Amino acid sequence: MKALAIVGSPNPNGSTAYLIRTMLKGMEKVGVETRCYCLGEEKINYCTGCKMCYKDGKCIQHDSMDKIIEDFKEADIIIIGTPDYWGYVSGQLKVFFDRNTPYANTNPRRISMEKRRVGISVSVREGGTERENKVIVESIEHYFGHMEVEPVANLTVTKVSSLDDLKQNNQEKIDEAYELGKRILNLINKN
Ligand SMILES: Cc1cc2nc3c(=O)[nH]c(=O)nc-3n(C[C@H](O)[C@H](O)[C@H](O)COP(=O)(O)O)c2cc1C
Repeated sequence: MKALAIVGSPNPNGSTAYLIRTMLKGMEKVGVETRCYCLGEEKINYCTGCKMCYKDGKCIQHDSMDKIIEDFKEADIIIIGTPDYWGYVSGQLKVFFDRNTPYANTNPRRISMEKRRVGISVSVREGGTERENKVIVESIEHYFGHMEVEPVANLTVTKVSSLDDLKQNNQEKIDEAYELGKRILNLINKN
């Protein structure tokens, strides 16, 4: 069993990355092989909207997306997390979504990556209500829908502005991330 995690934060040492890595530790505990990319450390160009991928299912650009998609093909579990930026996913994550257009089920020429996959969304914000987290989870699950990934859980965190803040004031969310990771096999079998 393999998991692929995408940290949508530009910050590889931030709260989103920490929560996702903690969730992956939980998964590793139950035997899942994990791979994690922080988009802040990758080079992913904007989609140019050329729609060449509608003709042959391939992107004309070559950058970090090539290796990430290879891992996606292998993965059974996809974890996508992002900080709230202006009430939505980070710009880095939005560009990542756009660049998945060659593989989306809306693409008439997509090269099928058929396999059962389950997905978990993670949304972290500084504000105190869950309203914006819900928009973000919906957006990640919209991506899951077009990539034919079944959403099985989400982790939403409010009132967090930094990793220090998370560690000092939100130990229960760190524990929740770890426990969610450890429960992944049950979540897969339940759905
Ligand atoms: C450009 C930018 C925009 C942000 N917009 C929002 C926002 O609209 N709502 C909110 O609750 N937090 C917002 N935040 C706060 C982040 O969601 C919060 O600091 C988060 O913990 C950062 O995640 P990280 O530690 O993974 O970098 C914003 C932060 C930045 C840098």
